Amino acid sequence: MAFDITINGSIHIVDVDGDTPLLWVLRDVLGMTGTKFGCGMALCGACTVHIDGVATRSCVTPVDSIGRSAITTIEGIGATPTGARIQKAWLDLEVVQCGYCQSGQIMSASALIGSNPHPTDSDIDDAMSGNICRCGTYVRIREAIKRAAQSTEQEVRQ
Ligand code: FES
Ligand code: FES
Repeated sequence: MAFDITINGSIHIVDVDGDTPLLWVLRDVLGMTGTKFGCGMALCGACTVHIDGVATRSCVTPVDSIGRSAITTIEGIGATPTGARIQKAWLDLEVVQCGYCQSGQIMSASALIGSNPHPTDSDIDDAMSGNICRCGTYVRIREAIKRAAQSTEQEVRQ
């Protein structure tokens, strides 16, 4: 069945079964491999995307549940003001180690800042608790979220 879904502001028509997880559509049908497969069971956060701005596990999101909602992936998050602030903070603080979990981390972090511009440590821990990092970058992630929350769009453009 054909579905037209909006990803990073562009409409894509995909012909798949309705119960196909969005993650497979992104990676295997559309070749958008920035979103990662980790567990396939909503347990690790590697596959996190935004659906209407909300951090969502794409591995357990059937494509027929999306409707007209707007999807943002790691390929598009840097074009949003919040995503740009998060990515700059990630680079400034050298958050990444192996990188595998980081797409999901950035998507969860940017959704947090989008809904809660000045999160407390506890807010950060709650929002990020479902994103697993086997390299243990959690301390740098928390600091980068704080840095992004304090930054301005002007700083990001410099
Ligand atoms: S791959 Fe989706 S949460 Fe792990
Ligand atoms: S940076 Fe390696 S799993 Fe997180």
